[in-house]
Amino acid sequence: MKPQRLHTWSGPEAPAAKAAYVRSMFARIVPRYDLINRLMTMGLDRRWRRVTARMAAPQDAVALDLATGTGDLALELARLGARFVVGADFCPEMLTAAVHKTAQWQARSSAARNPVSFIAGDAQQLPFRDNTFDCLVNGFLLRNLSDLQAALREFQRVLKPNGRLVCLDLTHPPAPLRPLLWPWFRVAVPLMGGMVSGDFDAYTYLPDSLRTYPDAERLRAMMTAAGFANASYRRVGFGTVAIHAAVKT
Ligand SMILES: C[S@@+](CC[C@H](N)C(=O)[O-])C[C@H]1O[C@@H](n2cnc3c(N)ncnc32)[C@H](O)[C@@H]1O
Repeated sequence: MKPQRLHTWSGPEAPAAKAAYVRSMFARIVPRYDLINRLMTMGLDRRWRRVTARMAAPQDAVALDLATGTGDLALELARLGARFVVGADFCPEMLTAAVHKTAQWQARSSAARNPVSFIAGDAQQLPFRDNTFDCLVNGFLLRNLSDLQAALREFQRVLKPNGRLVCLDLTHPPAPLRPLLWPWFRVAVPLMGGMVSGDFDAYTYLPDSLRTYPDAERLRAMMTAAGFANASYRRVGFGTVAIHAAVKT
């Protein structure tokens, strides 16, 4: 099923169709994915991932980086002393890039002793037992999911009691900033991403994916509804990015 205008899907096949679209889109942009992130965020994405990983307090933890992509957050968790890191993603091409990046990092860093493994898996049906992880992070995943509330319940299932959830993603900027940021999101990002990756559709999907995505306050409430305690968030990137944190009760 092809997406309709503004990258929306409808009908009973919508969840599967959106997942197939998202997976093939990420498979196409892997070679330039890191470079475009650096350009679009002026290098700030690295700092946001470091903050996200730190908020998960991964030292000595069994940690999951869900939707690991090229593995940056997984490596950040390992750098911070996680005992064991699993990076999971449903896009095999992304996982291949993550494996290569990890091998390079392990070859040049003596600090890279703790094991990092990568596995194929869908965020909405995780291939892990209940109560497996001390912490679970994800970066730029949530907008891509067709049933966010069900995914939050799945995160809750695989976390141990008192396990920490930290989610980094774009969010709706505060209203006064929207007119200023609109040209960046709707014009500069698709143009820059399209020119560098050769895939204009992928970088038009990016701003479109925010249209149906809940605002930061609503996402916080959804975490509470999924059974998490102490759900909170902070904004970074001039209010365009939110880092949500919560604890499994
Ligand atoms: C924008 S990239 C983010 C990658 C990485 N976390 C980062 O910070 O750069 C989104 C990733 O989510 C993955 N993804 C999207 N939906 C998924 C799902 N339902 N299950 C697992 N991975 C998913 C994609 O394959 C892609 O690698």
